[in-house]
Amino acid sequence: MQPLVDRYGRVATDLRVSLTDRCNLRCSYCMPAEGLDWLPGEDQLTDDEVVRLITVAVERLGVREVRFTGGEPLVRRGLVDIVRRVRALDPEVELSITSNGIGLARMAGALAEAGLDRVNVSLDTVRSEVFQEITRRDRFTDVVEGLAAAEEAGLRPIKVNGVLLRGVNDDQAPELLRWCLERGYQLRFIEQMPLDAQHGWSRDTMVTADEIFAQLDREFALTPATEPRGSAPAELFLVDGGPATVGVIASVTRPFCGDCDRVRLTADGQVRNCLFAREESDLRGALRAGASDAELAERWLVAMAGKAAGHGIDDPTFLQPDRPMSAIGG
Ligand code: 5AD
Ligand code: SF4
Repeated sequence: MQPLVDRYGRVATDLRVSLTDRCNLRCSYCMPAEGLDWLPGEDQLTDDEVVRLITVAVERLGVREVRFTGGEPLVRRGLVDIVRRVRALDPEVELSITSNGIGLARMAGALAEAGLDRVNVSLDTVRSEVFQEITRRDRFTDVVEGLAAAEEAGLRPIKVNGVLLRGVNDDQAPELLRWCLERGYQLRFIEQMPLDAQHGWSRDTMVTADEIFAQLDREFALTPATEPRGSAPAELFLVDGGPATVGVIASVTRPFCGDCDRVRLTADGQVRNCLFAREESDLRGALRAGASDAELAERWLVAMAGKAAGHGIDDPTFLQPDRPMSAIGG
């Protein structure tokens, strides 16, 4: 076993696997209204290939947590089967998905039964008309039902990811939190990052963590939760003395790159050592050319060694990655 260490001594134990770049929503901070040119089918890893690469990561490279993302992972037909096979590899590895919640109402039970531990659901507003404005689809009720089904299936703790957008839902932090508290979901606000396909992000208009705290402070008493943040990107706060918490992921204004323990695999089999990486390492080509597990692990180790110290969003030379969030995986 050789851990995925980079040249700054960080060890990646948390693998994010994008299962598809497709999605049934069109969130404005992620995709243009018309969608994107999806990956051709033959470029996408097959279910067997996905499971093979995850096996290499878990058995040879010390990965302890696997999160399935997209696009929208629930639109990947083989998802339940992939979860079942990864669970069979190792009963201890943490298995979760990041989903927009559409389809969870139907699939939560099967996913839990296959061995999924938890879900993170993206929800930026609890007003149906604002949901439609952000996602360009009228699916708010599906998400609410999906969350309830996930809870019912025991995929707990249920985490909700919220992004605030200037002029759209930038004043809705307290109402989103109240809604989540009432249902026992753990809300985490994520600062908007420059990962949209349209390159519309701007530092000047993004809603910062400080602004979110200021809004929440007016209605709730927030105290830092005692547990150390460690490599978890969310800073956690007790709400009104706890036990409920709220998290803030200040990727832009308080970067946590120094503690990063992540590595990503795209739906077409490229290792990305960072969300903001400008280079990828092709594992699919090697795999299809007949590489052994040991060779795949070696390539993966080389890919990690090249991980940059940080995302450099504040650097004047910062360049947004070519792939948008939907093709990298949260
Ligand atoms: N900035 C911040 N968060 C984003 N997400 C998608 N695009 C962005 C962005 N540009 C979030 C989604 C989802 C998770 C995968 O990342 O809302 O919760
Ligand atoms: Fe789909 Fe997630 Fe992108 Fe929204 S943010 S369009 S739910 S992939």
